[in-house]
Amino acid sequence: MKILVTGGAGYIGSHTCVELLEKGYEVVVVDNFDNSSPESVKRVEKITGKKIALYEADIRDEKVMDGIFSEHKIDCVIHFAGLKAVGESCAQPLKYYDNNLYGTLVLLRIMNKYGVKKIVFSSSATVYGDPEKLPLDENCKTGGTTNPYGTSKYFQEIMLRDLYASDKEWTVVLLRYFNPVGAHESGLIGEDPQGIPNNLTPYIAKVAIGELKEVGVFGNDYDTHDGTGVRDYIHVVDLAKGHVSAIENVIASGVYVYNLGTGVGYSVLDVIKAFNKACGKELPYLIKPRRAGDIATCYADASKAKRELGWEAKLGIDEMCASLWNWQSKNPKGYKG
Ligand code: NAD
Ligand code: UFG
Repeated sequence: MKILVTGGAGYIGSHTCVELLEKGYEVVVVDNFDNSSPESVKRVEKITGKKIALYEADIRDEKVMDGIFSEHKIDCVIHFAGLKAVGESCAQPLKYYDNNLYGTLVLLRIMNKYGVKKIVFSSSATVYGDPEKLPLDENCKTGGTTNPYGTSKYFQEIMLRDLYASDKEWTVVLLRYFNPVGAHESGLIGEDPQGIPNNLTPYIAKVAIGELKEVGVFGNDYDTHDGTGVRDYIHVVDLAKGHVSAIENVIASGVYVYNLGTGVGYSVLDVIKAFNKACGKELPYLIKPRRAGDIATCYADASKAKRELGWEAKLGIDEMCASLWNWQSKNPKGYKG
């Protein structure tokens, strides 16, 4: 079975390619390296001892996409390609709508043309907006997103639902990720953010290697056990396996939605503490004002994925931090050396 992985050189995509190759799938990757490099694909090949057909291209380039589908008999697409920085999306909304919405539109058009009607889409817990209840289950209301990135995910879900409504041959799997962290156990692939990281765990890792001075904790007056924000962190390898489970277990056409999380929430201070243990030092932190747009608490009810896909997250916060530290300490400059 041949899978096209858009954005396969990126953080979650590269980990998913490892799991797919290890399960015997053939993998074709298309990535424009906007937020990644070909090095991650080479390293996936090194980990697995298998080859990937790699195309450096933008998914909005209809001609190139057409060429890929005519060259390969693709059975299914896992669609990761997209921009994901919340702050940048507020400053440059049109860039986000162009890349994420138009990109998905072109991909779906070409899939339709070649009769490839199975897609697994990278959605996000962000589509729930401010949670109406906790834990969040798949029936909770969506929309009410607070930034163009989140809105683009919400719109893409709607595009996919509308497509299925018009053609019942489609199989659409919407995977709503909670907070992916950590790295492959080899330490060869991991998250490689450009510039100062926006997300908590890559920021902590850069403090641990001495590249940044201290962790800024965005608010300690939330209604949580220690006042800092609580999230459902999920090991990226568990997340990657969730994609393989989706491909293997969703067979009939339809629209399927799954939360991929652990169901457990950790605060910012809990995460710093776990990382201290992983790296063997006490990292400095400073309480700062709340970050605009943040919510107090967010965690998943992930029981539907367990029930229907037979998937559940296995790795805990200690494994997440240890694997991140393994990656960061072996690759202090990420893929650059
Ligand atoms: P990433 O930036 O590491 O990976 C995305 C990849 O897509 C990159 O390699 C990038 O170069 C590529 N890309 C972007 N636009 C492209 C285009 N037009 N054509 C071809 N390639 C393009 O991000 P990630 O963390 O691996 O996220 C993967 C997907 O999961 C994204 O859609 C993201 O929105 C979604 N997601 C991520 C998180 C998270 O916290 N990391 C949470 C929820 C959802
Ligand atoms: N935080 C800090 N300091 C930092 C960075 C973050 O205290 O330097 C706090 C935040 O305030 C929040 C928690 O750490 O309480 C997690 O923040 P992240 O930025 O790591 O993650 P978010 O939950 O804000 O958002 C992430 C992705 C979104 C995605 C969402 C749900 O960035 O794209 O998870 O999947 F939509």
